[in-house]
Amino acid sequence: MKKAFVYGVAVEGENFTDRIEETRRLKRDFENGQNVVLISPRRMGKTSLVRRVISQVDTNKIAVVHLDIYDCRTEYEFYNKLATAVLKQVSKKGELMLRNIKEFLTRLTPRVSFGIDPANEMSVSLGIAPEDYSPEEILQLPEKMAHKIGKHIVICIDEFQQIGNFPDSIDVQKRIRGVWQLQEEVSYCLYGSKKHMLTNLFQNKRMPFYQFGDIRFLQPIALDDWIPFIRGKFEESGLLISDEQITRICETVEYQSSYVQQLAWNVMLCCDKVVDETAMEEALDDLIGQSSILFLQQTEGLSSYQMNFLKALVAGETGDFTSAAILKKYHLGTKSNISRLTDTLIKKELIEKTGRTITIADPVFRLWMQREHND
Ligand SMILES: Nc1ncnc2c1ncn2[C@@H]1O[C@H](COP(=O)(O)OP(=O)(O)O)[C@@H](O)[C@H]1O
Ligand SMILES: [Mg+2]
Repeated sequence: MKKAFVYGVAVEGENFTDRIEETRRLKRDFENGQNVVLISPRRMGKTSLVRRVISQVDTNKIAVVHLDIYDCRTEYEFYNKLATAVLKQVSKKGELMLRNIKEFLTRLTPRVSFGIDPANEMSVSLGIAPEDYSPEEILQLPEKMAHKIGKHIVICIDEFQQIGNFPDSIDVQKRIRGVWQLQEEVSYCLYGSKKHMLTNLFQNKRMPFYQFGDIRFLQPIALDDWIPFIRGKFEESGLLISDEQITRICETVEYQSSYVQQLAWNVMLCCDKVVDETAMEEALDDLIGQSSILFLQQTEGLSSYQMNFLKALVAGETGDFTSAAILKKYHLGTKSNISRLTDTLIKKELIEKTGRTITIADPVFRLWMQREHND
């Protein structure tokens, strides 16, 4: 059976729903050269949305470069990845690539290898080092390329918060921003899922990237869009699901796109013509089971105070965690523990803080905790 629902990877075409407004807006930003910062929890649909927009822009006017910097550890690793992505996008063919490197990066001796068959991507290792090029020179490359090809270039960088982890990060950010903000033919779409890091990079007045672009928090896909999407897929397979059941699927996983598709797929596998309660329950059990290894890993190294804090949240506590009653009830230690506990759990992405409200970040993790740790 072809998978009716797709989750865990970026989706497109018939697996992509809604996002009409977001697509239109981001497309307009690309066309207008507006810098944007896109933030959402993981698996909400950033990569899919950006790809959707990329597939819709007028390639006669705009060239879109896309890179993911999750694995970049240093400033120059980032520059190498950036320059490679830009060169690949504007060159397409290997020959042109070599010419472009010769023209724009004369001081390099890059390694370029071509796939055996033409469908195979060429692999390029530029090997840019501080001795060859200053950061500013490399950062100018996209603007130069834009002039050369006579098109605006939009550079999309996934997991952008990674630059916050580079050595001398603040200086690096200053250099990058200094060049980027003067570019006329290049704009940036920066995104990622580490909300606390990204908001710190872009919303903190003391940080170099403060007010660099328009910050957008990608919202969940609405129920009105999920209902026809999910119902349609069930109908295509000759199955019947009610609007109420679809609503429950969405609410159970708090509208996290990937989980909605995963749970809907589980329901489909568990049901027989018409979705009933048994199928709904089994599907949820399966979802929790499928995630449990990950959750075990995530909680393995936690201290008992940290676990107790999570338990308090799962139990529905929202009040003042420094109050004597709550400290005692959940064995959270002393009052002074609390801010350290929350900081660590936020860094581990297990909890989230919006204003003064603290919540469990992952809805399925919450359900798993309820089952496994309800002592
Ligand atoms: N527009 C969409 N319509 C339907 N499902 C979506 C959509 N966007 C994302 N998803 C679901 O979320 C999953 C993760 O999407 P992805 O774009 O990789 O998220 P992110 O980049 O935010 O981590 C997809 O595999 C799919 O199941
Ligand atoms: Mg992504």
